[in-house]
Amino acid sequence: MTKPLLELKNLWGGYPPIPVFRDVSLTLQTGETVGLFGPNGHGKTTLLRTIAGLQDPWDGGVYFEGQRLNEEGAMRARTSAHVNYDLFRRRRIRAVDAVKAGLIYVMQGNLLFPEMTVEEVLAIAPVAAQGRPGVAEMRARLDDLFPRLAERKTSKIRYLSGGERQMVSIAVGLLAMPRLLMLDEPTLGLSPKLRRELSVAVHKIRETGVPLIVVDQNLEFLTSLVDRLILFDHGAITHELPAAEMPDHATLMRMMFGEGAA
Ligand SMILES: Nc1ncnc2c1ncn2[C@@H]1O[C@H](COP(=O)(O)OP(=O)(O)OP(=O)(O)O)[C@@H](O)[C@H]1O
Ligand SMILES: [Mg+2]
Repeated sequence: MTKPLLELKNLWGGYPPIPVFRDVSLTLQTGETVGLFGPNGHGKTTLLRTIAGLQDPWDGGVYFEGQRLNEEGAMRARTSAHVNYDLFRRRRIRAVDAVKAGLIYVMQGNLLFPEMTVEEVLAIAPVAAQGRPGVAEMRARLDDLFPRLAERKTSKIRYLSGGERQMVSIAVGLLAMPRLLMLDEPTLGLSPKLRRELSVAVHKIRETGVPLIVVDQNLEFLTSLVDRLILFDHGAITHELPAAEMPDHATLMRMMFGEGAA
C-alpha cells in the first residue's frame, strides 16, 4: 500500500485561547479530490491555514507523503509557573516546507498584489514550484483553463473583477506545480456566469490529476467534483461521504443543518 498523500491525525487548532477545530483526522490518497462543506465560521479556513503552515497546530500531526510536517507534542505540554513556553516555541509547519513539499494553499479572498499586472504575477508564481517540473506546460494550459486571463494579461490586478482575481489566484497555485492544491471558496461571491466559468476550470484541473481539497458553499459544484465530501460542523468532521453514496441535496442539507433545513 502506498503512503497516503496527506494524513491529519487528531489535529487541533485555533486562535488562543479559543479552539476552532478539534481532533480532526483525515486521510487523502494520491489522486483523490475531497470537498469540505460546512456552515460559515466553523473552522474550514482555520484548518487549511494550519495545514499550510500559517497557524500553529495545537496538537496532533500533519503528514504529507509519509513525512511529518509539524513538531510533535501538544501546546501547553511544558508548563511552569513563570514561563509560558508556548509564547516562544513556534509550533507551526514552516510555510516554506509546505510549499517545498508541494502542499499549496489558495487562500480565501484573492490576496494578490494590486499594483502588479496579471502577467507579472504569473511570471513570479513558478518560484513556488521549487524546481518541480512542468511549469512551461502548465503555463500553456492556463490559456485554455482561463481564457479571460489571456485577454487581461496587461491589466493591473486592482482593475480585475472578483472572479478574474480568483482565476489569477488559482493560476498562481497551479504554477507552483502542486502535489496537493487546497482551494478555499473559489466561487465565493461570484456572479452565476463567473461561478460557472470557475467551476468548469476546477473540473478541468481535477481531470488533469491534481489532487484537490476544495472548500465551497456551493453544494452542487462540490458534489459533482469530489470523490468524497466531508461535512464539517463546529470544528469537527461529522460525516465522510464517498461520491458513490452521495445523498441528494435535501438530505445533505438536513444532515448539516438538521430537520427543516432543506
Ligand atoms: N484572526 C482571527 N482571530 C481570532 N478568531 C478568528 C480569526 N479568524 C477567524 N477567527 C474565528 O475562528 C472561527 C473559524 O473561522 P474560519 O474562518 O476558520 O471559518 P470558516 O468555516 O472558514 O468560515 P467561512 O465559511 O465564513 O469562510 C470563527 O469563529 C472566526 O470568527
Ligand atoms: Mg473560510
